Amino acid sequence: MTATGALAPFKLSDWSARRLAEVEAALDRWVSADAPAGLGEAMRYAVLGGGKRLRPLLVLAAAEAVGGQAQAALRAACAVELIHAYSLVHDDMPCMDDDVLRRGRPTVHVQFGQAQALLAGDALQALAFELLTPQGEGVAAAVQADLCRLLSRAAGAQGMAGGQAIDLASVGRALNEEQLRRMHRLKTGALLQASVMMGAACGQPQAPVAEALLRYGDAIGLAFQVVDDILDVTADSQTLGKTAGKDAQQDKPTYVSLLGLERARAHAVELLGQALHALDASGLADTRALAALARMVVEREN
Ligand code: IPE
Ligand code: IPE
Ligand code: MG
Ligand code: MG
Ligand code: MG
Repeated sequence: MTATGALAPFKLSDWSARRLAEVEAALDRWVSADAPAGLGEAMRYAVLGGGKRLRPLLVLAAAEAVGGQAQAALRAACAVELIHAYSLVHDDMPCMDDDVLRRGRPTVHVQFGQAQALLAGDALQALAFELLTPQGEGVAAAVQADLCRLLSRAAGAQGMAGGQAIDLASVGRALNEEQLRRMHRLKTGALLQASVMMGAACGQPQAPVAEALLRYGDAIGLAFQVVDDILDVTADSQTLGKTAGKDAQQDKPTYVSLLGLERARAHAVELLGQALHALDASGLADTRALAALARMVVEREN
């Protein structure tokens, strides 16, 4: 029997509904329109009104699994989503992927201009760390420091930004599987893994639990970008809310270009198995939400 086998059936949509509402309300509150020269409007456009909110859900699921502090978890959930939203704004700019559609709407630079998009991304990144470091009571200083460390590493040169640099340097090049795995782990996996570990940091789990969650986060983080590569080929722009077929058009190396569709799909399923195995090995009493989120990563249609 698995660690989760003794518990009642679990419906992700039921579990998510309240958490998503809390995250949306908190983002709406914390990303203020009150910033100079229309910057707040561009920031709110980038963050609100769309997105699956997978990273916040991972933070909250991990925090709940380890009995973490709810107030810290909500701040962490929103902070990681702000970093993600900023990464999308910059990823879509003409100097990067040059995309005009995101979350079913014109991209931020199309709507507000390139300079404002650049600044909105910058300001969202700063706001993420402001959220993690509230003054006064609420979140212990040591937890604040852990959360900042995890998020800054995942967003920076050894994480998302570094992965994006590899992505841009790899256009038109055929990467081998090891190189592609590294690029995907950095550009996308790092922030997803950090979401899990930030949730865990709200509860200070024992080392073996943290190690199992690290493996879970690594597997779903890579799986997420493998599936993103697959959907770029198999889904349409309306379903995705972003322009389909961009990777081939821009000659980006992807899991589909390397392995073909069937083997890329099989690899995503294999990674799901690794993620679920890590949860079973964690010894945590209830990992149903984390397991359901891993399935969603691999089985999603957008
Ligand atoms: C898209 O991420 C960018 C990648 C890292 C592949 P998501 O698919 O999570 O985008 P939203 O937040 O749901 O729009
Ligand atoms: C983006 O990867 C990863 C980021 C860090 C934003 P992609 O360029 O494949 O993401 P999409 O397909 O535009 O969402
Ligand atoms: Mg990109
Ligand atoms: Mg892109
Ligand atoms: Mg993509």
